[in-house]
Amino acid sequence: MGHGGNVIDELVTDHREVEELFGKIEALPPGHKDRKVYADQAVIELVRHSVAEEAYLYPAVREHVPGGDALADRELEDHATAEQTMKDLEGCDADDAEFDRLIGSLMSEIREHVADEERNLFPKLRAACSTEELDRLGEKVRQAKKTAPTRPHPAARNGLGAAFCHDGPRPVRVTGTAAQRSRRSASRAPRPEPPARPSE
Ligand SMILES: [Fe+2]
Repeated sequence: MGHGGNVIDELVTDHREVEELFGKIEALPPGHKDRKVYADQAVIELVRHSVAEEAYLYPAVREHVPGGDALADRELEDHATAEQTMKDLEGCDADDAEFDRLIGSLMSEIREHVADEERNLFPKLRAACSTEELDRLGEKVRQAKKTAPTRPHPAARNGLGAAFCHDGPRPVRVTGTAAQRSRRSASRAPRPEPPARPSE
């Protein structure tokens, strides 16, 4: 769960761990019971990872990276989509046909998230932050993962990450639908700010 190094090292290691679990799922035939076991493990790691990113990574991106608000909004929308998929996956057994569809969607969504962060967001953050700041964020992320929830709660989008954000700006609330995400994926162009929602 906690690895070490700065925030980028920590989160990239999370990405590799989840990809390893995806590989194990893909190596098993449809219906094999262990596909559900590995999927459950992946969901636990992904929820922790998402909470930590929402609490510390995206606020830092907004603060330090030029154009960071648009980058952070896009990542939050991706999280919302993946979290709904994980919630739907919770109720499926390995031999359920819906399981195969949902795990395929989740793997696709997370691989897109990983590629976007590692090719785009992380290099920009590294260029914008000092070594000390990246190390400090790494420690914050490790701490957040220790106490983060392990089950998806899509109805509480961005409330999860915000609850762990004690010393930074709160993430902007963003709602995302599959259709919105699909349109954005086609262009990857920054989108306008979503309308404000009342606080809870
Ligand atoms: Fe990530």
